[in-house]
Amino acid sequence: MTKPITKAVIPAAGMGTRLLPATKSQPKEMLPVGRKPVIQYVVEEIVAAGIHHALVVTSQQKRAIEDHFDEEAGNPSNTVGVDAQLFYTRQSVPKGLADAIARAEHFTGDDPFLVCLGDSIIQSPQTGATLKRLIDTHQREGAAATILFETVAREDVIRYGIAKPKGEPTDTFAIEDLIEKPSVEEAPSTFAVAARYAFEPIIFEYIRKTPPGRGNEIQITDSMRLMLQDGLPIWGITMGQGERRLDIGNYKSYYRAFFELCLEDEELGGDFREFARRRLAQP
Ligand code: G1P
Repeated sequence: MTKPITKAVIPAAGMGTRLLPATKSQPKEMLPVGRKPVIQYVVEEIVAAGIHHALVVTSQQKRAIEDHFDEEAGNPSNTVGVDAQLFYTRQSVPKGLADAIARAEHFTGDDPFLVCLGDSIIQSPQTGATLKRLIDTHQREGAAATILFETVAREDVIRYGIAKPKGEPTDTFAIEDLIEKPSVEEAPSTFAVAARYAFEPIIFEYIRKTPPGRGNEIQITDSMRLMLQDGLPIWGITMGQGERRLDIGNYKSYYRAFFELCLEDEELGGDFREFARRRLAQP
């Protein structure tokens, strides 16, 4: 049994080049999806999973994130009110996701921690349930790392880290290998890394050993691959019933995410559904 997980790291340093020009002067993590910016959903999910300390790794042009979570004295209606203490640090040079995670080493110290990418929303019938399952699996299996996976269409494997499960995968499986953004032919499965991870602190040793990979960046998928080569156990869980990932990393998935959350809006969802139905019936 590893130590309990009480901290999360939210990498939010990516340049958002796939979302230009919307991200020219604002962070992609601040793009609204329905009523809230993406990163607020991420923080709410972490809090729902019982984690109240998170480090956000930002970069240039990302100050709006800190402003968003500020409490406004005397104006509670303009405070987002998440029950979390947020810390901030920077990745000044864009050297890749693993390097961004490495900025958290002093924050996490000897503790295991979650990594929740700031550009993906995980929807679940009960907010936070997916992260709780990730944490439970991580501890039960004594894993060095545990990853959330979603099954993607074969042509989409090129956009994600892809797992090779050991044996026949069920909803929880041991991982034999991981490949960052393989070609369709190379991909050993259609299990795609879905923006949520749990790590033991040993990950930092492996990040230090990881050479630049895809896009000349230090990839966390490659760090985990080195762990697997040294025989460290890495586990995966799949999305459960009613769970899915809304990815804000590119326009195709961002449009879909926005549409979904408009449909689900408590006050305006019914009206929007009616509007969409009528609009789509027009030529
Ligand atoms: C990152 C990871 C990739 C993962 C993806 C979604 O890629 O490198 O393994 O599948 O996030 O969680 P990015 O979207 O930053 O290119």
